[in-house]
Amino acid sequence: MSTSLASDLLEQLREHGAIPRHVAIIMDGNGRWARERMLPRPLGHRSGMKSVREVVEGAIEAGVDVLSLFAFSQENWQRPAGEVSALMSLLEEYIQKEADELDAQGVQVRMLGELSRLTPPAAAAVDRVMRQTAHNSKLRLNLFISYGSRAELVRAARLLAEDVAAGRIAPDQIDDAAFAAKLFTADCPDPDLLIRTSGEQRISNFLLWQVAYTELFISPVLWPDFGRRDLYEAILDYQNRDRRFGRVAV
Ligand code: IPE
Ligand code: IPE
Ligand code: MG
Repeated sequence: MSTSLASDLLEQLREHGAIPRHVAIIMDGNGRWARERMLPRPLGHRSGMKSVREVVEGAIEAGVDVLSLFAFSQENWQRPAGEVSALMSLLEEYIQKEADELDAQGVQVRMLGELSRLTPPAAAAVDRVMRQTAHNSKLRLNLFISYGSRAELVRAARLLAEDVAAGRIAPDQIDDAAFAAKLFTADCPDPDLLIRTSGEQRISNFLLWQVAYTELFISPVLWPDFGRRDLYEAILDYQNRDRRFGRVAV
């Protein structure tokens, strides 16, 4: 399969049917990609930008509705200051370079996370691209920046507690739907498929609530080498899964 052309794989997965509505990706391995080439880590991050372009285009071609990309975690703030500032600059540069193209492709860009921690120029760029693309509906692109799932869950609990304290809802009205409505992903379906690149087999605080019944796919490919063909291979694998949701297969 690894020698198949992207177009052949796309053909195959369209014939198969069942395209995942929502694909989430933990984009990992930029540092190792750079180290293998004896380059500084930020060059690995820079090289990863073209993979973002590839998977956005691939998702549109395949007919995916929502693409969620984990770009920067809350824990990533603890990396060396030089790497953090390089990542913030790259975020700005990505938006600068790609906003018009994303808009032309019909992509609605949403940035999810504790955005108040971003540098003012990065926050301004984020705000600009969200406003520019808000009217689009071909693909929704969720970029998770300064995001941690536990913090998102704690925030949801706090918002519900405030609603109860203010008398807007009663405690027994808190159910799955009420909880999900307080998450950053409130208006999105749960991911059908979660891909993690670079071979790591962990969730690293990404979408803990939302991946309850998501199919997982671990790719050995480092993020800067990940292209649309790899995305299609993951979707083809997903199409052969038997999703039971705790029930008995029919
Ligand atoms: C993913 O690549 C990008 C971010 C987490 C920002 P890494 O920087 O984690 O790369 P590795 O895991 O060190 O190879
Ligand atoms: C997860 O990758 C976060 C992102 C891809 C943005 P990390 O590289 O930060 O995760 P760990 O440290 O390997 O768990
Ligand atoms: Mg990593």
